[in-house]
Amino acid sequence: VDVSDYLDAINWVQDTEDVLVVNKKKPLGGEYIPPDLVMLDTSDTLGHKEIQLDARAASALKAMILCMRAEGIRDVFVTSAYRSYAYQKNLFQWYIQKEMEADRSLTKAQAQQKVLTYSAAPGTSEHQSGLCVDFMTTTMRDLDETFEQTAAFSWLEENACQFGFILRYPKGKENVTGYKYEPWHYRYVGRELAMAVRQSGLPLEVYLATQSSQIG
Ligand code: DAL
Ligand code: ZN
Repeated sequence: VDVSDYLDAINWVQDTEDVLVVNKKKPLGGEYIPPDLVMLDTSDTLGHKEIQLDARAASALKAMILCMRAEGIRDVFVTSAYRSYAYQKNLFQWYIQKEMEADRSLTKAQAQQKVLTYSAAPGTSEHQSGLCVDFMTTTMRDLDETFEQTAAFSWLEENACQFGFILRYPKGKENVTGYKYEPWHYRYVGRELAMAVRQSGLPLEVYLATQSSQIG
């Protein structure tokens, strides 16, 4: 596979302190819209959905998908990437409704606490940054941990960092990231940082904290 058109995006480097970290403690707020969104090729999205992503992230993603396909993994597609504040707000409310329907004894506050373990409150989702993607295979019915059993996951676990992507919500790091394990969610940070984060075994925010404490 010739990835020469995508090397600038793959190799993108930024200063550690400039990395856009989005989490429960670092919200983007209601107004934030990424400056450079592009539409992904619908041949790379599940059900040919129209999904946007940051242009640079989209370029690195293209290279990653081309390489995956070339290595025989053809059943994996992007199911979500950029989500606006309004979209996330609806999604979050929808999950709360779903939890309350599944367990009628839950109050709205209790349902919300439950949802917060797997879905970001509006204004706090990394998806609003336009810098992350969720993958799903055509054999999966829901976006869930069964993704871990797919060839796509094994490939991503091994190779995603080479294209500048990291697993954002690792297993066993729920206390730090604030979210359950998400084997399907990958954040674009550029190759150098992605390799360093993977090597460290730390979640993104923890790795970045170790770097800034070294600088002083
Ligand atoms: N599922 C991730 C945490 C989100 O909603 O942004
Ligand atoms: Zn996600």
